[in-house]
Amino acid sequence: MKHSGIEEVDTPALLVDVDVMEENLRWGQRKANMTGVKLRPHTKTHRTPALAKRQVELGAQGITVAKLGEAEVMAAAGINDIFIANEIVGPIKLKRLRKLAQQVRITVGVDNPKHVSILATAFASEARPLEVLIDVDTGYGRTGVKPGQQVLDLARLILQSPTLKLRGIFTHEGHSYKAENVAEIKQVFRHSQENMLTTARLLRQADVHVEEISVGATPALLVGDVLSGITEIRPGTYIFLDAAQGNILGSYKRCALTVLATVVNRPISGNVVIDAGVKALTAFVRSTGMGRTQGYGLLKALPEVHLSEVSDEHGVFNSPPGYNFYIGEKIEIIPNHACPTCNLYDYIYGIKKGCVVYKWPVLARGKSQ
Ligand SMILES: Cc1ncc(COP(=O)(O)O)c(C=O)c1O
Repeated sequence: MKHSGIEEVDTPALLVDVDVMEENLRWGQRKANMTGVKLRPHTKTHRTPALAKRQVELGAQGITVAKLGEAEVMAAAGINDIFIANEIVGPIKLKRLRKLAQQVRITVGVDNPKHVSILATAFASEARPLEVLIDVDTGYGRTGVKPGQQVLDLARLILQSPTLKLRGIFTHEGHSYKAENVAEIKQVFRHSQENMLTTARLLRQADVHVEEISVGATPALLVGDVLSGITEIRPGTYIFLDAAQGNILGSYKRCALTVLATVVNRPISGNVVIDAGVKALTAFVRSTGMGRTQGYGLLKALPEVHLSEVSDEHGVFNSPPGYNFYIGEKIEIIPNHACPTCNLYDYIYGIKKGCVVYKWPVLARGKSQ
């Protein structure tokens, strides 16, 4: 089959360097295998069933999603073991959750007695109990109960509900993104895992069965070790990495995802205007931590150059001396944050040696309900 070249792809478009992505995927799987834990990648990063299937093919034991809508798309594509790492609230969603749980293995997060009672009632007439993991806040401060006694209290409540089945506990080290150096990221990850292991011990001492102790965030896993006793890791961004992760690694070589853009104007000397702005790259900036980003995305070919401004449909950067960017030239931008960028596109073009070899539909794009 003859593959078309990148020049035949119109812009803005989302590209993935297939070889770099494959290496990232294999790295994640190796990391899990080396420490004897399961890999359950967070697919909110790509929202693309074809890529989730590739992750499973390489050894992932099911996937993680953030939203019920993502889970529905992934289940329809044949993924049959899905953890929704989020709390599900509201009658419309509960009805959809019941339907989905009749089709594939679904686990959901809980972090409040209210969730327990809502889910227990919603599943009262179901043949199978709904599997749940308790969301533990090990320092990120977004969701989750504090490690220790609060988890045990919630676990006891779940055990009183015959329509629910407690599988274990999970956490997300989102605060590893705020750490200022590698030693600090490692410390965040270690501290989080120790909290999880101590909590699991407390539960087991109280005769609560803990099958799963699930952790994960890409910065933590890029530089830190998984402790013995952890059973599962859930990195998401590792598949592509992005400008923030490149900043942590000190190199953008492992960044697989780019936005292909065209230079559309050179209005004033030095300034280069491209056809990719907020609607092609997001306006996301990471303002804290080692991965903090400059501007709104980096030029893949010249990572020291960043987009200094974005409006809806335009991005602007300053050309370094000696470069003559011309109108019509195509350039690749490494986004600051891979996950919301993927959500902006209908397709991801898989590129090998300058040729388009895949065109993956981002089927869960926009499925945020
Ligand atoms: C609950 C949960 N688990 C795992 C992840 C994956 O994190 P990362 O993309 O840093 O790997 C996220 C990301 O937001 C998350 O919210």
